[in-house]
Amino acid sequence: MTGLIPLVSTTMCPEPQHVFQKLREEYGPVAPVELEPGINGWLVLGYQEILTVTRQEETFAADPANWSVYQDDRLAPDSQVRAMMSPYDNAFFTDGERHRRLRAPIDGGLGRIDQRQLRRAVTALCTGVIADFAGRGEADLVADYAAVIPVLAMADVFGMDAPQGRALYRGLLELYSWEGDAEAARQRVLGLAAEAVAARRAAPSEDLTSYLAHHPNLHSDAEIYDTILLLIVGANENGINWISQTLRLMLTDSRFGGRLRGGRLGVDDALDEVLWRDPPFSNVAGRYALKDTELGGQAIRRGDALILGLAAANADPRIHAGGGAAIEVGNRAHVSWSAGPHSCPARLPARLIVRTAVETALHRLPGVRLAIPPEEVVSVDSAWTRGPASLPVRFTPVSSPGSDQP
Ligand code: HEM
Repeated sequence: MTGLIPLVSTTMCPEPQHVFQKLREEYGPVAPVELEPGINGWLVLGYQEILTVTRQEETFAADPANWSVYQDDRLAPDSQVRAMMSPYDNAFFTDGERHRRLRAPIDGGLGRIDQRQLRRAVTALCTGVIADFAGRGEADLVADYAAVIPVLAMADVFGMDAPQGRALYRGLLELYSWEGDAEAARQRVLGLAAEAVAARRAAPSEDLTSYLAHHPNLHSDAEIYDTILLLIVGANENGINWISQTLRLMLTDSRFGGRLRGGRLGVDDALDEVLWRDPPFSNVAGRYALKDTELGGQAIRRGDALILGLAAANADPRIHAGGGAAIEVGNRAHVSWSAGPHSCPARLPARLIVRTAVETALHRLPGVRLAIPPEEVVSVDSAWTRGPASLPVRFTPVSSPGSDQP
């Protein structure tokens, strides 16, 4: 496989649909791509093929220890795919019985979240974050807003106080900065999880930390801390992208602009449209073939990596009437939460956090509008997502009696 399209060209491009179409024409629903120089994988573009790969655990494993590149130690020390494609001890990277054991506390813990209480907490923290910049009349809705909300919301779910939430936010910034020592940053975030667990062991409460700290399926402190980290990281990256993509859509698309003043479509429609067209997790790494097999007409070899092209699969012409990519309002049959045993366990709380964040921003920033032409919004530098890197906006300044920001 030489001269392949780099995976990042499906995210860092103005029209991913054109790239998907080109790949489909050349290869069909499963296409070889370059993950980074010298390292290739398969991009699964077909909707049906995504369902096959995510549901057949006995053929396609989530544990990167099954990847031939990992086994042969071929990833460069500064590899940008290493963090997503190396084994870690949590549900995301495990299979079978072990995955079920680690996943059950996640499902149980997320299922116990009190939706009304979470909505109140998220509204309060969004209002506090906005109060910090509302007087300026301008802001970057990614850096100043979307980047902060999911982690603070999760800190609240974990029963952490405001300074702990801020420390968590700083820890995640370091973890994703590429500049410092990622492992040291990871250890610092795990340290915050450890502090929260120690506090709940001394004084149990009703929060998610207490639930996980006392769950019989989690057999060691390391498993508890890693599960907490997985939940926070999952919420953070995906939540930031979903909030900023939805705000971008609502600020740039006249169908939604009209709706803000009582028009036809609502925030939920914008949230759904983003899930279809620009899913927060565009490409998921991944699955690793446990045996030689065939998928979408391609011969997959044992040890090959498969990237779940969720954005591509949502646009698969075979699932859209007439072969186009038109989306009916209310249709949620996309694969943006993935499928099978690893599919996202947090659909309800994620939607609640993101919807609250979008509604609060639109409500609290009068006359909010994008400060640059829509085509100048650039995507973050990532092969996994194409969320906006920044969203500069202007609005009528609002004086506030003081910030209640945590
Ligand atoms: C409160 C916010 C969120 C939390 C706590 C969360 C948590 C998680 C966790 C724990 C997993 C691993 C599940 C497993 O491997 O069994 C996961 C996977 C995933 N999540 Fe979420 N998530 C959140 C938001 C989102 C959002 C907004 C999206 C995008 C719409 C999303 C999409 C996914 C996808 C695509 C996977 C991968 C599944 C796979 O490997 O097939 N998540 N999430």
